[in-house]
Amino acid sequence: MSNSSKIVLITGATAGIGRMTALHLAKLGHHVIATGRKPAELAKLAAEATGHVDTLLLDVTSLASITAAVEGVDKLTGGKGLDVLVNNAGFGTLGPTSEISDAEMRRQYETNVFGLMNVTRAFLPKMMERRAGRIINVSSVGGRITLPYFGAYNSTKYAVEALSDSLRYELRPFGIDVAMIEPGLIRTNFEATAVANLGAMATTPYAKAVGKYEEMSKMADKFAANPIVIAKAIARAVNARRPAARYVAPFSTNFVILFARMFPTRMWDWAMRRVGYLTAKGLGLDGAAPAPVATPGALAVPPPTKPTGSARVSAN
Ligand SMILES: NC(=O)c1ccc[n+]([C@@H]2O[C@H](COP(=O)([O-])OP(=O)(O)OC[C@H]3O[C@@H](n4cnc5c(N)ncnc54)[C@H](OP(=O)(O)O)[C@@H]3O)[C@@H](O)[C@H]2O)c1
Repeated sequence: MSNSSKIVLITGATAGIGRMTALHLAKLGHHVIATGRKPAELAKLAAEATGHVDTLLLDVTSLASITAAVEGVDKLTGGKGLDVLVNNAGFGTLGPTSEISDAEMRRQYETNVFGLMNVTRAFLPKMMERRAGRIINVSSVGGRITLPYFGAYNSTKYAVEALSDSLRYELRPFGIDVAMIEPGLIRTNFEATAVANLGAMATTPYAKAVGKYEEMSKMADKFAANPIVIAKAIARAVNARRPAARYVAPFSTNFVILFARMFPTRMWDWAMRRVGYLTAKGLGLDGAAPAPVATPGALAVPPPTKPTGSARVSAN
């Protein structure tokens, strides 16, 4: 692909990174198809944009919505289809991993993983036919390293990393490039969405630690970067003759990934044991464990019996 104007569809363009990317790519002269779930936000974006921006409704978790968006793109492009698909829509729910409900975990996978794959499948056939195209998946530094309270979200981004790597190998013969964007900490609505579920932790064994976590999280937000750094990284992936497999931004995030690789797991575990909200004290567990409550009707476990004869123990 050359550096000239391309037809680029962006999912989740109603806020944060997606919105900034739509504005930036349009300014660079690309034909942007900004998509999202909120018509009013899409209208505001189109009014603010300088350049060629069309909008389409697209909820990545709805197959009907995806089909309608494919038809919409066909109309907007005279049947040509997309040059570039930017899979950006996504969110995280934070909290102790064992306390994230099954429904909440599935909701994250429906958007971040299955949504991304369904949108990709829907727009691929035209790219494969033309033997040209580009898929840019917004992953995360959280797809390379795992943090406490991020387990569910991190697992969706690890999935995005594996799927993207595999797609990159498989789609290359069709002239289709696959690149990933790995943002660090970026100031968007992400954090507000992510902590919304923490209130539900008040009735869990982690109740005491969650407040401490929120304090730390607010402090970390001060170091968050402007989403324009990610919009620029996406623009590099759109414009490159051959894109890199991964774009890490802001630059300082590279050091986080490097440290994570350099230090053995044992050392990370040592450091994590010292984080306030992960200590027994932080959790209010520094007293003696309460006596086990007898369950009514529970079967008494018989004491182990001595083996008789020549019983053999096998290790497998
Ligand atoms: N901010 C960070 O620090 C950070 C770091 C690493 C990676 N990321 C990744 O960057 C991407 C964008 O996040 P952001 O930081 O820009 O957060 P954001 O400000 O919350 O924006 C998320 C966007 O995704 C959309 N979205 C969510 N579910 C959707 C669905 N089912 N269908 C269509 N759109 C949907 C949202 O639309 P609604 O307004 O309708 O919900 C919104 O437009 C995500 O994939 C996120 O995982 C962010």
